[in-house]
Amino acid sequence: MPRHPDGPAGQDWDPERYARNAGFVAELGGAVLDLLDPRPGERILDLGCGDGALTEQLAAAGADVVGVDSSAAQVAAARERGLDARVMDGESLTFAGEFDAVFSNAALHWMRRPEKVVAGVFRALRSPGRFVGEMGGAGNVQAVGGALVAALDRRGIDGAAADPWYFPDTREYRTRLEEAGFRVRSIALIPRPTPLPGDLGGWLETFAGSFLAAVPEADRPAVFAEVAADLAPRLKDDDGRWVVDYVRLRFAADKPAS
Ligand code: BEZ
Repeated sequence: MPRHPDGPAGQDWDPERYARNAGFVAELGGAVLDLLDPRPGERILDLGCGDGALTEQLAAAGADVVGVDSSAAQVAAARERGLDARVMDGESLTFAGEFDAVFSNAALHWMRRPEKVVAGVFRALRSPGRFVGEMGGAGNVQAVGGALVAALDRRGIDGAAADPWYFPDTREYRTRLEEAGFRVRSIALIPRPTPLPGDLGGWLETFAGSFLAAVPEADRPAVFAEVAADLAPRLKDDDGRWVVDYVRLRFAADKPAS
């Protein structure tokens, strides 16, 4: 399947749909923003800025911020907020020695070649500089991913091959960071069961495009129904609200002074 210009095959980023189904992604970004501790006048790169909701908060803290994202639609939404946002592939960053910090929230798990990402971040930073981020970690959305893979496998489609996500454990990501030259200050896996603003279908439409694109269009409603039936006993709370099994990997790493 050809690689979609905006990222993994079949995954597309519609800003309006994202705002409706995934506003919580930025709302829950407070802890990683605190870990970054942006200071006025710092030049900061927001890697995978999406529609710019958190980039805007960095700018409000007085930082001079550039956001990059592989989705042209999301970059357009970020620009509408008045931000300096650019279309760029996180695996091919083109910056050299220009940022005090690189920040990333809920984006690195879409980049399947972490060694390229981390090397590009290291290059983009001044010395000293810091890389602070949060992404899906080992075990993230495991129930949802398992139900999607099973629904595809039942149709004779290789569900695992449609999985677009990279969810490392602390050991794996620490190694990536250290191999690139970073000193890891902190790294932890944090379970964060996350209530959805609406139905599981909205989450699947927003985030599971790669799995759905592997299924003929006529079969997709049945896949939605099967996945929901499979997950309801585990992910619906007593009030009927969907709570997805998120696990965050949060880290801070330093590029030493030269
Ligand atoms: C996440 O933010 O962890 C995530 C969101 C959607 C799909 C996969 C992971």
